[in-house]
Order: sequence, then structure tokens, then C-alpha cells
Amino acid sequence: MDKFVIRGGNPLLGTIRVSGAKNSALPCMAAAILTADEVVLENIPQVRDIDTERKLLESMGATVELGYGRAQHRTTIQCAVLSDPEAKYEIVKTMRASSLVLGPLVARVGVARVAVPGGCAIGGRPIDLHLRGLEKMGATITQEHGSIEAKADRLHGAHILFDKITVTGTEDLLMAATLAEGETLMENCAQEPEVTDLAAMLIGMGAKIEGAGTSTIRVTGVEKLHGVRHRINPDRIEAGTFLIAGAITGGDVNVDCCNPAHLAAVIAKLEQCGVRMEVGKDNIRVRSEGVKLQGADMSTVEYPGFPTDMQAQFMALATQAEGTSTITENIFENRFMHVSELVRMGANIRVEGRTATVRGKTPLSSAAVMCSDLRASASLVLAALVAEGETILDRVYHIDRGYEHIEEKLRGVGAQIRRMGEVFGKR
Ligand code: UD1
Repeated sequence: MDKFVIRGGNPLLGTIRVSGAKNSALPCMAAAILTADEVVLENIPQVRDIDTERKLLESMGATVELGYGRAQHRTTIQCAVLSDPEAKYEIVKTMRASSLVLGPLVARVGVARVAVPGGCAIGGRPIDLHLRGLEKMGATITQEHGSIEAKADRLHGAHILFDKITVTGTEDLLMAATLAEGETLMENCAQEPEVTDLAAMLIGMGAKIEGAGTSTIRVTGVEKLHGVRHRINPDRIEAGTFLIAGAITGGDVNVDCCNPAHLAAVIAKLEQCGVRMEVGKDNIRVRSEGVKLQGADMSTVEYPGFPTDMQAQFMALATQAEGTSTITENIFENRFMHVSELVRMGANIRVEGRTATVRGKTPLSSAAVMCSDLRASASLVLAALVAEGETILDRVYHIDRGYEHIEEKLRGVGAQIRRMGEVFGKR
């Protein structure tokens, strides 16, 4: 199993390029199921979840070419025939987002089987809202032997009011609705940029969608969708992680090729902590000279609020800020697995229910620490960048799920980080 060895203490200096968003790329790849034509996706990140999705689509009969050539990271997918419309447990257990194939499969071939999902160990993470929505659209849902089967001759439009805001749930049903008969009205939808990105791709394929990016989405079903060429949005979570890397190390880092508009809540919170930033059209520069970090309270909320996927990284920053920061996780239960590892490195953090209280600033020192999920791992990398001595980070496959060559990118701005073991993506 790969490990990172990180020696802390260097202020990071230079430019880091942000990759395409994993959480946009996953639903966009699933959207290729909706057409027999070829779909070309650009700016696909070279991360393990994308490779998992490739395997998933191929296991169903699709042709997928992941072309990781320099700038474009272009991927071509063709789902001409989907002979085996099933997401098997071996794949689903490593990536919960596999449930994204449910809606498009029922819509295109009338049947989908998806094993009950696994993925990040951050709470129960059910898919009941996906299933309830599909039922409203006329699908019959059955569950046996650990798999869910959804069937429908043709889905029909429906009025779907989400009990709870769900990102992949909104995406799944949005895809299903594009080929349903009649109009689907979805309310209390997720407004994340990844939903908007997917909708832009679907519209490019001939779908009729209004309101993506707001809480109400209206879809008029069409008979057929066609191929498209679509460019994936930059990854706002990767960008936010690098902003914190610049700030926590007292560096001067230009986070390039990002979309600052998608990071408004993160930028506002970092400003509150005293982080100085220059925001450009597609870049954000963090300049730490003369800056003293201060703690701030933060609660995770659905977009456009502060993202849960940045909570762990923000906590690492809070350990290096003066004063008390209260961090409340509202989206997922059990998403504080980084806390015990940060404490082992010297942080002063107390958790009560959904709230963590961080008292800073505490010096951090190196330790052998363990990655538990994707974003928790990113927070440990950040902590290690300022810790005294050499931190060994185990189980970095969690990071490889969602960060493209993070060690190379960080090394490019002066971090002392190296990987022990096989390098993912360098086959
Ligand atoms: C997506 C992101 C993930 C991010 C999360 C919240 C992808 C591939 N993943 O995950 O990185 O952390 O949004 O921004 O885009 N829920 C239900 N029933 C459902 C679905 C969800 O109760 O059917 C609950 C979940 O348990 C959770 C909340 O709703 O408490 C939000 O989950 P959701 O938005 O669905 O997260 P994901 O789409 O899985």
C-alpha cells in the first residue's frame, strides 16, 4: 500500500494548476449511457474514481478510452450496446457514486441493477431518495441479494420534491428525466456547480432542461439524445485544498485554472481567518507575507454554502490559527475521522456531536498517521506540511480516489513530499 512521506516546514511558493472536477466527471461519464453515440469529455482528472467508473461502464458493454495526453485529458465513451446493465458489488463497494448509473440505465435500456453502495466511510449514505424519485417516474424497484433492481418500459415525467438536498440524487434523476415521457418538475434540488455542469452536457446532447443551478429544475423528456463534446469544470475542492496549503504554510501560491465563482464561500471564510487572496478571472493567489491566521467558526452547508468536502482541510488550517474555531458538520454524520489523527500530531480538538472545537495555535509534530477517507486524507497532508519532522501517511489510495498526482503538484511548489510504493496512473 502506498504511503506519503512528508517533511513539513517549507512555505509553498509558485503556481499549481487545478484539474477537472472528479464530482462533475463522474455524472458526466454516467450521462454517456443515455446515448448510443460517441461522447467526448475533456478535462477529465486522472484519479482512481474515474478509472473505477471506466471499469463500471466497460463491464456493461461500453467502450471507454481514457486519453490522458498532456493538456486535454480527453475521454471518449460510447455506449452503443449495454448488454449487462449492472453495477456489481466489487465496483460499487469502492465508489458510492456508482449509483449514478441507475437513472440513466433505466431511462435508456429499461432496467438497472446496482449493488447497495459503499464508498467513503462517512456515515450511512443511503440512496433512498434516488429510488423514491425513480418510483415516482414509474419504475418498479426490487431489492434482493444485496442489489437493487429498477425496471420501467419507459419512465414518465413526475413531480419530485426531495426531502433532503442530495447532489448525486439530483443528478441521477435529472439524467433519468431527460428521456422520460413528459415533464418532470424537481424541487429542493442540489445547486452545486457539478449539477450545472452535468445539465450543460445534457443540454448539449439535446435534453430540454431549465433551472439547473437553482433549487427547481424542469425537464421536458425527449425521445433520444445524441453525442456531445463537453469540457468538465475545474475542481473547486482541489482548488480550495491548495488555497489552504498556501495559507497554512505561510506561502505564496497561485492556484491557477480554477473558477473563483465556485469558491465564494471558501474564499469568504478564509478571508475571515485573515488569509490574503488576490482573486482573478480563473486563478486565486494566496499571499501570506505579514499575515497572522485567526480562527473562525464554520458550518458546512449545501452549495452555495461552505462545502462539507472542505471541512477537514479547514480544520487543519484552524489548528494553525490563533483562537478558537467551532466547526459544525451538517451534511454527513461521522465525518470527523481526521480529528484523532490531527490530535496525534498535536492539535487541540474536542468533538461533541456534530461540532468540533479547535483551539489554536498548536505546533504540530510528525507522526505515523492513517488516511480514512478522501478529504480527511487531504487534511492530514496539509497538517504534515507544517508539522515538525517527517510524517508518514499511510493508505494514500484514499487520496488517489480524488486528487490528481497531489504529491507532484505540491512538490512543484516546494513541498517535501514523496510517495513510497507504486505511483498511481504511471503504468
Ligand atoms: C456528493 C459528492 C460528495 C459530497 C456530497 C455533499 C459526488 C460524487 N460526491 O455526494 O463529494 O461530499 O455530495 O456535498 O458528487 N442522503 C439520503 N438519501 C439519499 C441520498 C442522500 O439521506 O438518497 C443524505 C446523505 O446521507 C447525506 C446527505 O443526504 O447526509 C447529502 O448527501 P448527497 O448530497 O447525496 O451526497 P452524495 O451525492 O453522495
